[in-house]
Amino acid sequence: MIKQAIIPLAGLGTRLLPLTSVFPKELLPINGKPGLEYILDECIDAGVKEIIFIISNKKKLIKKYFYNDFFYKKIIKAKKDKRIINEYKKILKFKKKIKFVYQNKPLGSGDAVLKAKKYITGSHFLILFPDDLIIKKNCSKDMISIHEKLKCSVMASMKVKKKEVNRWGIFSVDKKINKQNFLIKDVVEKPRPHEAPSTNAVIGRYILPKEVFTKLKKQKKGIGGEIHITDSIRKLILENNKFIGHNFAGKYLDCGTMKGYIKSSLEISKL
Ligand code: G1P
Repeated sequence: MIKQAIIPLAGLGTRLLPLTSVFPKELLPINGKPGLEYILDECIDAGVKEIIFIISNKKKLIKKYFYNDFFYKKIIKAKKDKRIINEYKKILKFKKKIKFVYQNKPLGSGDAVLKAKKYITGSHFLILFPDDLIIKKNCSKDMISIHEKLKCSVMASMKVKKKEVNRWGIFSVDKKINKQNFLIKDVVEKPRPHEAPSTNAVIGRYILPKEVFTKLKKQKKGIGGEIHITDSIRKLILENNKFIGHNFAGKYLDCGTMKGYIKSSLEISKL
């Protein structure tokens, strides 16, 4: 059973400047709701009971968003607005499930995940990258059922354009399991188009085994001088750990770029 999730939130969000110069990108509204709440809804609906946020000193506003009880109580006391009461209840529900861990140096996704090590109790856990919104179908829920059925690690995936492979982790397929699921042979972080083993990109949803922490502890910096989760996953795959690439059924929205962020609001408003 997957009961814990990690959400890395320490990134600076430079691709969304000027919106992110004072405000964390994950709290920016997407069709009237902070992007982060879509991610929380997805993992709670998938059965996750505890969520570990990796934030930084620069992103303390994220903690404040969930710990603003005094402000809510004052407003609710003054005017008993039903909508505000419901919003406050929702925030309280989230707050109970969240733990905060700090990553103050931006050393990469692998370093961020390693910071959560001491909180992980189960054999496997979920990671969600908040820039990657998946709507219309709960990707985490589908991945958890694949994990339970096949007793393996799972990564969300989709086909991308060849000229864009250097933006993603790209994996090669060992064997097709069915229409949506593939046994992964190898994975490489942000390859150049002519070096990429395929156009199968890893999207920001992972179900990983606890053993990944052993690899992360020893993980050297990779492309761009960062410690990538992909490089430690690669080591696990090459040691014959079973990893499935799951071509998710929902619609992918890239909230980490200005163009994608604007499009996300439009797409969600159509739902
Ligand atoms: C990260 C991962 C990459 C993955 C991507 C999905 O990259 O390192 O393998 O394909 O997320 O969004 P980043 O977006 O941090 O550059």
